[in-house]
Amino acid sequence: MKKSYMLAIWLSSTSLLLSAQNVQVKVHTDQPANQINKHIYGHFAEHLGRGVYGGLYVGDTSSIPNTDGVRNDVIDALKDLKIPNLRWPGGCFADSYHWKDAVGPKDQRLATENMAWGNVCEDNGFGTHEFLDLCEQLGAEAYLATNMNSGTVREAVDWVQYVNHANGTSYLTTDLREENGRATPWNVKFWGIGNESWDCGGNMDVDHYTDLYKQYATAMTSYSNTEGLFRVAVGPGWDDYHWTVEVMKQIPLKRLEGLSIHHYAVLEWSNKGSSYDFTDDQYFSTMKKAWFMDEFITENSKIMDQYDPENKVALVVDEWGGWYAPIPEKGQLYQQNTMRDAMIAGLTLNVFNNHSDRVRMANLAQTVNVLQAVILTEEEKMILTPTYHVMKMYAVHQDATLIPVSFDSPEYHKGEDQIPALSISASETDGKLSVSMVNMDLDKGYALKLDLSGYEFDTIKGQIIESEDIRDHNTFDQPRKVITTEFKDFKSKKGSTIVSLPAFSVMMLQFD
Ligand code: AHR
Repeated sequence: MKKSYMLAIWLSSTSLLLSAQNVQVKVHTDQPANQINKHIYGHFAEHLGRGVYGGLYVGDTSSIPNTDGVRNDVIDALKDLKIPNLRWPGGCFADSYHWKDAVGPKDQRLATENMAWGNVCEDNGFGTHEFLDLCEQLGAEAYLATNMNSGTVREAVDWVQYVNHANGTSYLTTDLREENGRATPWNVKFWGIGNESWDCGGNMDVDHYTDLYKQYATAMTSYSNTEGLFRVAVGPGWDDYHWTVEVMKQIPLKRLEGLSIHHYAVLEWSNKGSSYDFTDDQYFSTMKKAWFMDEFITENSKIMDQYDPENKVALVVDEWGGWYAPIPEKGQLYQQNTMRDAMIAGLTLNVFNNHSDRVRMANLAQTVNVLQAVILTEEEKMILTPTYHVMKMYAVHQDATLIPVSFDSPEYHKGEDQIPALSISASETDGKLSVSMVNMDLDKGYALKLDLSGYEFDTIKGQIIESEDIRDHNTFDQPRKVITTEFKDFKSKKGSTIVSLPAFSVMMLQFD
């Protein structure tokens, strides 16, 4: 249903507050919980389609304004998101990546084939130096994925030494780094050991994977100055909890800092549906898939609690987002990004916040021009997607203290099927309480009565992302159709705040 119709019914904010169903929300400001790790708000850039080449990197001879070949417009936009970490070079691309092909003078780098994505020529013009320098420009930490499929333990060990070893007198790789123009190490902490090893990363069974992991994890940390690496093991990409059990059981905790899981909100792998021309029923099904993230994290966490009761190992959701049929003429896995994606992002980030005792890192797939991107580019032009606006709105939760919320969500029905209509999370930082709310229902707005447990504040600031139609999106001709606007439709009295949350909207209220 078009939102203009809804708006005609709710002629004014007062009428919405009066007409919409009431939902009581208790915000437990008296029970502050753990810190929400900022790394939950991480991103992922793979050598895929126009994600890296054209999206992030245009080369230093390009007429598109750049710094060392990296687009200035994209850097500025990502800095505004306070991007905490960036995962690279894949994904499945990492499973056949040989980092040594992509260092040194560009005209001497080895051109290879991108075996994961379209067999296109990979000229290796963007390699380790370009990526780690890009992370420095962003002020983000790098998260490198090692090739555990066609690579070797030796390659991984050399990579760690190349980027992290400070001692110039040491073996070949450190000297090579200096020769290639970088004297000081970058000190990369985050290392993925394999990627989807049950599929493109080698079609391994879990016993084979854990044996190999132990070999990599042991060898990669044998240098005295590389202690403190954060090593992430491959976890499941669907509800294969046996995989989680075996990884947690077989890998000694002293060699494991993170366990990765992947989950995409995809209708069906064989029929993904359009990214912008979808039905209301398809919207509902996508949101149901997105909600699965909550169950997936809960079930994996239960297993981790059993084998790691002291909660030392982080759950790392290093690929998530909506995945639809690509628009091939715009690049591999290129898709539009609509209000539906804003709903997925708002919901998923609330789920991460609420599970942030165990989920301490995550990466949206992917940053530019690929899957649920925050940025789309066309030559010199760039637009910000609805997902971008959600990530920016939610950046206040980074490193803030989680404040638990409790409420009974009304259900959003489609035929016999139903999902919770509302998702909420809250955090506190510097005496400011931030409450992020998502209403997934296409037809109904809700009046939320927020009880803040005596929290004192002088002002309330509201922001909202909403639109007339769930299919709305930004284009190069109309780049500001979906943006964040100021929201004032709330009333505070007698210790509670009533806010009208329109159908399919993402909102942030900040109490200061
Ligand atoms: O993000 C796209 C692909 O999805 C990644 O390469 C792979 O890890 C996953 O299957």
